[in-house]
Amino acid sequence: MDTFLPVLLAYLLGSIPSALWIGKIFYKTDIRTKGSGNLGATNTFRTLGAKAGIVVTVLDILKGTAATLIPLYMETNIHPLVFGVIAVVGHMFPLFAKFKGGKAVATSGGILLGYQWPLFLVAVAVLLITLKITKMVSLSSIILAVVAVIYTTIYAIYTGDYLFLAVIVILATFIIYRHRANISRIKAGTEPKIKW
Ligand code: G3P
Repeated sequence: MDTFLPVLLAYLLGSIPSALWIGKIFYKTDIRTKGSGNLGATNTFRTLGAKAGIVVTVLDILKGTAATLIPLYMETNIHPLVFGVIAVVGHMFPLFAKFKGGKAVATSGGILLGYQWPLFLVAVAVLLITLKITKMVSLSSIILAVVAVIYTTIYAIYTGDYLFLAVIVILATFIIYRHRANISRIKAGTEPKIKW
C-alpha cells in the first residue's frame, strides 16, 4: 500500500491532459484535430496562441515537479525521481485522454525543477538558445535531451549519482522516441518552424 497509492498519484498527475482540457474548456477546440495533433505545449501555442501555450507549458512542467515532491507528503521508500518518471509515463499515456498524450519534454523539465532547480534553468537556457538557432521546437527538444545525457554522465562520474543519470537516459529515450514523426519531417525538410 505504501507503494501503490503514491505511484498511482504520480501516474494520475502526469495523466492530466492540460492541453486537451484547456483547449476544450476555454477555446472549445480539441487540439488533437489541429496542427501536429499532439497534446503538448508546442501544439497549443501553434493552434490556440501564446496565452494558452504558456498555461499548458506551466501546467505540464508542474506535473513533473509535483510528482517528484510526493515523498515529502506521503510515506514511501521510492526515490523522488522515480515518481517523476511515472508522471512522464502518465503524460505520454494519459488515463484521461485515451492513453494518447504528449512528447515528454515539459513534464521531464518539471522533474529537473523539483530535483535540482538550477539545472532546470540551465535546460531552459539551452532550449531557448537551440530554438533561436534551429527555429524548431522538436529539434531543440531532441538536442536538449542529448545535452542532458552528456551533462549527467559527467555529473555522475564526479558525484556518483548514477540514478539521476539513469533517469535522464530514460527520459531522453522517451523524448527521442516520441519525436519519431518530427524526425522524419526534419529529414524531409517539412518540420514547421517558429517565427522567432
Ligand atoms: O514538445 C513537443 C515538441 O517538441 C514538438 O511538438 O507539436 O511540433 O510535434 P509538435
